[in-house]
Amino acid sequence: GPVICVVGARPNFMKMAPILRAMAAHVPALPVLLVHTGQHYDKDMSERLFEDLRLPTPDVNLEVGSGTHAVQTAEVMRRFEPVVDTYQPSCVAVVGDVNSTLACALVAVKKNVPVVHIEAGLRSYDRAMPEEINRILTDQIADRLYTTERTAQDNLAREGIASHQVCFAGNVMIDSVVFGRANARSVSHTLQACHVDPGVIRHPLGMGLVTLHRPSNVDHPDSLRALLGVLGEVATSLPLVFVLHPRTRGNIERFGLMDLIDPARMVLLPPQGYLEMLGLMAEATLVLTDSGGLQEETTALGVPCLTLRENTERPITVEQGTNTLVGSNREAILGAVKDILAGKGKRGRLPELWDGHAAQRIAADMYPWLKQRQADMAS
Ligand code: UD1
Repeated sequence: GPVICVVGARPNFMKMAPILRAMAAHVPALPVLLVHTGQHYDKDMSERLFEDLRLPTPDVNLEVGSGTHAVQTAEVMRRFEPVVDTYQPSCVAVVGDVNSTLACALVAVKKNVPVVHIEAGLRSYDRAMPEEINRILTDQIADRLYTTERTAQDNLAREGIASHQVCFAGNVMIDSVVFGRANARSVSHTLQACHVDPGVIRHPLGMGLVTLHRPSNVDHPDSLRALLGVLGEVATSLPLVFVLHPRTRGNIERFGLMDLIDPARMVLLPPQGYLEMLGLMAEATLVLTDSGGLQEETTALGVPCLTLRENTERPITVEQGTNTLVGSNREAILGAVKDILAGKGKRGRLPELWDGHAAQRIAADMYPWLKQRQADMAS
């Protein structure tokens, strides 16, 4: 049967695109079926990224949509099971740490179908984060685990996962940065497309890019109000472009916090395509974010990143890259911004195997691994 490749939510798309290309180029004998769970379904959250990343139209769309964690996870499982029954895949490949990742891995393993997890072993050691639960559980049931940084090997070893199952392949996220970089859309183009006058962000120090969507930052009125207040202070020295996740926009409106945003200093944009985001990051003086992906992309692009979280599952971006953890502490955020604007931002270097060829290494490893695994199962 084919290899079923699963995507569900926005951060999955840039990880799976290079995998599909590498499999087609290096192991064309291996048929592939692309399944979209439909966890993200808006044009801005899904379709635009498919176009930018040149992802093929999914062979199957489960159209699960939004819901509570239990409902969403259960619905993906219920709808994915008959797909596995119909196609009898040789393995199921999942990426990242979203609810769709765990749900599909769980369906596969219970049917004795081997699971491949790409971006395995990352740990924030914060179990209040829904993604941490998805990461731990997916890794426990995966047969082959591909990692992006060496700390992941230690995390997996600590959880009892045999080292022969783990392969350090590098970061597929950076494959997409390399792929898209030359076609990144300029900030002025992006603003004009959103009917915003680029003059708003013209400033001698440039502009800052903001994204926020973690439940711990945006789901409670007090935390969100405090963070928007600090961003307002940052905006007095550096104009900001704030790309709003639907969850964040919804909460700002629901909690009545729109007044905290001064449109003369902070531009609000709807979710952007991949090439727009690359352009925004590349042209930014600094990035303020709670995203996992942006921590890695800014390290690859050499742009200073302030992560509005207490911890990170991607420590290499702090140790070697441009990332600094500032939490939600006002003084820490303002101090770090001041340093960067004074030219004292972290320079960083490119981590090992973040070279644009991670997917190639994964494809080259996967075929012999699968053959061996089939031989083992037959004997
Ligand atoms: C999910 C991932 C998170 C990832 C993020 C990137 C999990 C547990 N979380 O969080 O790791 O960083 O995606 O975006 O899987 N919504 C829309 N349109 C859409 C999709 C969602 O409006 O196309 C809104 C809905 O109101 C929905 C809310 O966003 O209830 C949250 O969506 P959901 O998929 O549950 O989680 P994210 O917060 O996007």
